[in-house]
Amino acid sequence: TDLPALRAALLAWFDRSGRALPWRVGPEGGRDPYRVWVSEVLLQQTQVARGRVYFERFMEAFPTVEALASAPIDAVLKAWEGCGYYARARNLHRAAGIIAQEGFPAHYAGWRALPGVGPYTAAAVASLSGGEARAVNDGNVRRVLARLGGERQPTERWVQARADELLDPARPGAWNEAVMDLGATVCTPKNPKCPECPVSASCAALASGDPAAFPAPKVR
Ligand code: ADE
Repeated sequence: TDLPALRAALLAWFDRSGRALPWRVGPEGGRDPYRVWVSEVLLQQTQVARGRVYFERFMEAFPTVEALASAPIDAVLKAWEGCGYYARARNLHRAAGIIAQEGFPAHYAGWRALPGVGPYTAAAVASLSGGEARAVNDGNVRRVLARLGGERQPTERWVQARADELLDPARPGAWNEAVMDLGATVCTPKNPKCPECPVSASCAALASGDPAAFPAPKVR
């Protein structure tokens, strides 16, 4: 594939059609790490439509990391009500205590060391708020890349390697969100809207004639 053309096409689509979401404020690669971090933890278990409501509510209750760190855990759990997985809220609160002491991590490894921050969240925050070239890998990314590459049974290793290869180092945060938005709105699990897809010309799954068959359902 022509990598520069693929990147340019998807990023142009994102600039035009990317979703306006409450944590997407601030300069590219330089957004408020607190908002990005909280939103990414929230979105691990909640769909974007619902997540944005909880996000606004949480930000109102705890507008800064210092406010979160100094709040009693019961108030945090209360604000998290309805989001499920209370371990996430407990980890947020613990991590906020560390950040209030030490400041926000400057890089991926520092994020990864915080309680509750796995590879996905660390890559998201490092790219979106730190401008670091780290590729995210979630369900949407897996589907989009499997289709583009025509890979029916992508392994985790394959997805991460493709994600790392495609990531635009000039705009890593925008690239990550572009892939996620494409997966959520165009390259959907069922009935993908291929005529609307900015990268359909590079899509091996579409060329095969049955893009929705990629990736194959996971066998358990
Ligand atoms: N899902 C998780 N994080 C997201 C983000 N930053 N943008 C869009 N969808 C997401």
